[in-house]
Amino acid sequence: MSSVKDWAAPNPVTENRSGIIGKGVDRYEGKLKVTGTAAYAYEVEPPSAPAYGYLLAATIAKGRITAIDISAAEAVPGVKLVWTHLNVPAQARRGERINPRSQRPSNPALASDRIEFFGQPVAFVAADTWETAREAANLIAVTYAAEPAVLDFRASLDQAEMPHGEEDVRIGDFDGAYAKAPVQVDETYFSPLQNHVQMEPCATTAWWDGDKVTVHTSIQMVKGGQHSLAETLAIPSDKVHLLTRYIGGGFGGKGQAYDDLVLAALGAQALGQPVKVAYTRQQMFQATIHRPAVSMRVRLGAEPDGRLNAFAVEAITHCARSAPFVEHAANFSRNLYAAPNRLTGHRLVKMDIPHAGPMRAPGEASGMLSLECAMDELAEKLGIDPIELRLRNEPDVDPETGKPFSIRQLTECLNTGAQRFGWNRRNPKPGQVRDGRWLVGMGMAAAIRGNFLLPAKAGVRIDGTGIVTLRQGMTDIGTGTYTILAQITAETMGVTMEQVKIELGDSEFPPAPGSGGQFGAATAGSAAFEANMNLRKALAELAIGDPNSPLYGGDPTYVTFGNGNIAIENRSESLATLVSRAAPEGVYVEGSISPAADARDYSQHTYGGHFAEVGVDTVTGEVRMRKMFGVFAAGRILNAKTAKSQVTGGMIWGVGTALTEGNVVDNRYGSFINQDMAGYLVPTHADIVDLDAIFLDEADDKANPMGIKGVGELGICGAGAAVANAIYNACGVRLRDFPMTPDKVL
Ligand code: MOS
Repeated sequence: MSSVKDWAAPNPVTENRSGIIGKGVDRYEGKLKVTGTAAYAYEVEPPSAPAYGYLLAATIAKGRITAIDISAAEAVPGVKLVWTHLNVPAQARRGERINPRSQRPSNPALASDRIEFFGQPVAFVAADTWETAREAANLIAVTYAAEPAVLDFRASLDQAEMPHGEEDVRIGDFDGAYAKAPVQVDETYFSPLQNHVQMEPCATTAWWDGDKVTVHTSIQMVKGGQHSLAETLAIPSDKVHLLTRYIGGGFGGKGQAYDDLVLAALGAQALGQPVKVAYTRQQMFQATIHRPAVSMRVRLGAEPDGRLNAFAVEAITHCARSAPFVEHAANFSRNLYAAPNRLTGHRLVKMDIPHAGPMRAPGEASGMLSLECAMDELAEKLGIDPIELRLRNEPDVDPETGKPFSIRQLTECLNTGAQRFGWNRRNPKPGQVRDGRWLVGMGMAAAIRGNFLLPAKAGVRIDGTGIVTLRQGMTDIGTGTYTILAQITAETMGVTMEQVKIELGDSEFPPAPGSGGQFGAATAGSAAFEANMNLRKALAELAIGDPNSPLYGGDPTYVTFGNGNIAIENRSESLATLVSRAAPEGVYVEGSISPAADARDYSQHTYGGHFAEVGVDTVTGEVRMRKMFGVFAAGRILNAKTAKSQVTGGMIWGVGTALTEGNVVDNRYGSFINQDMAGYLVPTHADIVDLDAIFLDEADDKANPMGIKGVGELGICGAGAAVANAIYNACGVRLRDFPMTPDKVL
């Protein structure tokens, strides 16, 4: 008999026995959210009546506060405290760390008289109602000494510098090869600043219990938030209990903590009373992060048969002076098309506007817009179908690193998409297809986005009633994490979804890196799978070693789990019977995942093909979507419904990128002119008709034990380019400046 210890466990997921994994199960928290019963951070009931905070924001872009008068604010009845840089409680200096293993440094609020961007919080009021706090905050008189500020990106492109620690990637001789190329494209594209526009603004409810603070906050990374607050308050991280149970959207904008977290915690400490702080919608625009604008020059040199010989992508982007961030818009192009002579790199303009930061598919989302439009322009010049052009430049190995692909189904995505979408209906000559006052056209684009696995843990417990509870310091930002973890747990343990409970969003649970970089499902899911596999092992050991179990003394090689039972061939008992008898206190185990030793030996990405059909109004220049279809290859799909929601959501964002979205900086003040949902236009249901997406069968065995990859960011990559290319095909107008609003199309 082999021992349970070195049991080579069958992989129940790759065997896919019950079929729960992959099913389009409804999101567990979907109903709670739409019925208003999911308590967001601001809505969590604190242990006693809270005070309400309000942030006052700076009205200059750069300079210094020379005077600040809070007397009128303090005189408002109901006001409990008014803080500025002069009287805010002590916090660690920005960037400091006292906890040696902290994942984030200190980020103090109201730390100095320096103003670094319009909208920077300069004062904080807490009062018995939110309205009182707001009224008082607006009575604070701030005097500034303004300094000259860099606010206009397009006017500052000549100030672009090499980002710290980076260099261009040069392979072969780009300049020589480009000069000799018989067919050339050299175009520069512009994509705008974008705002995340999460439905739920950033918010925190905080209270203290002795020297320990509890914070419910809206954040994508549990550990990041916990550590950042601990460093800022200069206390050990285990004195911060951070919870984030339900989150109304993240998109990268909640990858970090903002001043609501710090000031709620400090305020609650000072008042000895819970405090709630939320950003207003305007503050979400002005005082959190945004996707920076990108100016990207693409040079393609091709042979008449379409093969690329010279390939250059050079991106200029911007960041805040004090918060270096590079939008790596050229990165993806390093893995996409074969070309022996290559040049890719980034330049950065430092500006005095709010911090640039990650937004859904940082790098690719902006970069693919430009590259995939340039490929369309090249196809046009060559007289080659745009899909065929991409197929002719399909590499055998990663074009930059020479590494083998773990799996690459770009060709299959494009071919399947062409067939399902009806690409053969497209007239390659622009401006030919009319439908009344509309000119109709079709465009396509490729999609690529990296796949990542980060270290993570999960804990799982089974109790005497057979209920399996999985706990993880993971988040669900609306993507379906609760649901896919329940599916993985149910399938692995051979129980129903009803017998599984998933608990997330707590800094005291086994840590996971959170939601971001489309690593969430694969990372959290793999750790959950490992924990479940360890629970199978522990239960097998328990049953085989228990004289009262029908499995007593059996061969662990043949242990199976299904229908709520543990079995060896025809001997079985229910998990509830086993646990209640042999381990009445329950069985708890943990599992962990980290990248495989050979993870870096492969070029590992997710791929897709976008197809769009638009109508261009010949009278108004308005562009309307008529049809959109995407085909994606992204490993094993855990939930057909949530995965599709992710990629179609990304595609819709691509429509917004192409047609409506963009933050406009007021070059006088450094503010954003559009700072609400009326001025910043995201597509609505009425804008989206006939949109669909499918996934190809795939399981990437180089990714993780379940072969799953990320889908959260893939759908936006390239989507806007398909729309732009369709606009060209419709009316023959080649725009290189996003968004393509009617004034530009006309
Ligand atoms: Mo993301 S933009 O890495 O949450």
